[in-house]
Amino acid sequence: MINILTNISSLVTINANGKLFKAGKDMQDIQEIKNAAMVFDTNIIWVGKESELEQYLIDNPIKEYKTISADNKCIIPGFVDSHTHIVFAGSRSNEFAKRLRGATYKEIADEGGGIQTTVKATRNASIDDLFQNGKTFAISAIKYGTTALEIKSGYSLNLDGEIKQLEAIKKLKENLPLSISSTFMGAHDIPIEFRDNKDKYIDLICDEMLPLIKEKQLAEFCDVFVDEGYFTVNDGDKIFKKASELGFKLKLHADELANTEAASLAARWDAVSADHLLNVSENGIQNMIKSGTVFTLLPGTAYFIRLPYAPARKIIDKGGILAIASDCNPGSCYTENMQLILSLAVINMNMTAEEALTAATLNGAYALRKSDEFGSIEVGKKANFLILDSSNYADLFYHFGINHVKETWISGVQFDK
Ligand code: NIG
Ligand code: FE
Repeated sequence: MINILTNISSLVTINANGKLFKAGKDMQDIQEIKNAAMVFDTNIIWVGKESELEQYLIDNPIKEYKTISADNKCIIPGFVDSHTHIVFAGSRSNEFAKRLRGATYKEIADEGGGIQTTVKATRNASIDDLFQNGKTFAISAIKYGTTALEIKSGYSLNLDGEIKQLEAIKKLKENLPLSISSTFMGAHDIPIEFRDNKDKYIDLICDEMLPLIKEKQLAEFCDVFVDEGYFTVNDGDKIFKKASELGFKLKLHADELANTEAASLAARWDAVSADHLLNVSENGIQNMIKSGTVFTLLPGTAYFIRLPYAPARKIIDKGGILAIASDCNPGSCYTENMQLILSLAVINMNMTAEEALTAATLNGAYALRKSDEFGSIEVGKKANFLILDSSNYADLFYHFGINHVKETWISGVQFDK
């Protein structure tokens, strides 16, 4: 069925004219159309000023269509949350309360809590438990405007458990309308049983996990947590070598807790993105700009574990390709609400509203290598868009802490809880 959406006060298209991302100062250019209309089925067929719609329909007659009014509201592309860990079991609310009493993220991890707490619970969960838990997050995310998600494994840290998590992600793909990309992150932490023999665990990742996951086609990306106390640049090199030989696209958790020059590792391997980057060096920034690696910033994590934010302004001013995502996970950032992430990006990373919108849509899609399919309101792309409760996109940032999404549309269908 073809739909004609009229009475759109402001249509933020983020149109890049077929280009797959916006870098640096181009992120400011959101290509807003005032008093717009849009024709779509599962994909976008026509976008323009409402005053030009009549002529379009004369030139391109459509036999049967449904007209919908946007009631003079603003429309933006659906959010692309390109970094999450929403397939897990258990809760860390007690550890969170402990942090509020003064313990640090690192202290909790050193006591055997943190990621290991979630690993214990996830190892004991069934595929269906993980699927149900993930589904709850994904549906909530859709209500806050997310129309595409990436989900990582990495809370089992053994062969069967990592496969189980990836199977749960596959089941989410099959049962939910939004686009889901899946990432293998066996190198999220060193499991307890390998604490004295990290190299052996890396061998297990390279010799058993990666080949089997490739064979079963359970993940597109491979991600590694290169940081102080976790994996080194050298470990990252080994895992990336094997992963890229097998044809995985690469992502990296880089320079989050400390600078270990992980950003340069991502650049050297032409990783699709390096994420976090709270402590990225000048050199790391330069190398990532040269390789065209996406800077995926996760301001919710800096907020939730009270760390200084990543240098978004510097990255944009130097011409980087910057995306923002939630990092939704039970330890370092427990939210699936992308509107909150946009708010943190503008207030605490000094981004403009327009840059934040570009970062959470087109550039997020590019960080999944899917910006040819969605991420902007452009003819031929999926009709993934949000009808806001306001006529002006600035209200999304101005009136903070509430849900501005009136309707989430995915592939031309309104999501109906
Ligand atoms: O992206 N940095 C590493 N991993 C997650 C946190 C995982 C956890 O605490 O459960 C992150 O922040
Ligand atoms: Fe993460």
